[in-house]
Amino acid sequence: SSDVKDDLQHVLYTKEQIDTRIAELAAEIDRDYAGRDILLVGVLKGAVMVVADIARALHSHVAMDWMAVSSYGSGTQSSGVVRILKDLDTDLIDKHVLIVEDIIDSGLTLSWLRSNLASRGPASIEICTLLRKPDAAKVELPVKYVGYDIPNEFVIGYGLDFAEKYRNLDFIGTLAPHVYE
Ligand code: PRP
Ligand code: MN
Ligand code: MG
Repeated sequence: SSDVKDDLQHVLYTKEQIDTRIAELAAEIDRDYAGRDILLVGVLKGAVMVVADIARALHSHVAMDWMAVSSYGSGTQSSGVVRILKDLDTDLIDKHVLIVEDIIDSGLTLSWLRSNLASRGPASIEICTLLRKPDAAKVELPVKYVGYDIPNEFVIGYGLDFAEKYRNLDFIGTLAPHVYE
């Protein structure tokens, strides 16, 4: 089969850069949550790498739960339609919930998810995302922890997919146009 490298345009963030930024975010989170247990809510599937790495970088007590929602299907455009594919296993009563995402694009997924989870009685609720595209925002969204603000280009790797591929790359890059044209 063909080499994944042939599908890349350029590398946006290397594994080393991501590791460093995740460690910085984790240090900030540890300071802010001092003495409080955190429930990390990972948004499947894109957030798996961020959750796995940030959880291991935190010194606070951490529990993890997962939600699967979908807004993209297999294309590159946000549809704005959010579906719950898998709900949380645990209740949120009195929990300090930190929603973890790989990327905020239009913000529609998290805007919907944040109010959905906020209605379940958590003690607090915040958002952490590795990437955010300010130029693509369609809604106002309070995001406490942001790894990088990036231009409005389609990115893949470190959990981010195109048609379910490239999630396993340990860096973040852009796709060569021949892949999606
Ligand atoms: C992607 C990404 C975010 C969401 C951001 O997930 O991982 O969850 O889209 O888009 P938005 O800000 O425009 O709502 P996707 O729906 O592709 O599912 P996946 O995580 O399983 O890839
Ligand atoms: Mn996602
Ligand atoms: Mg996706």
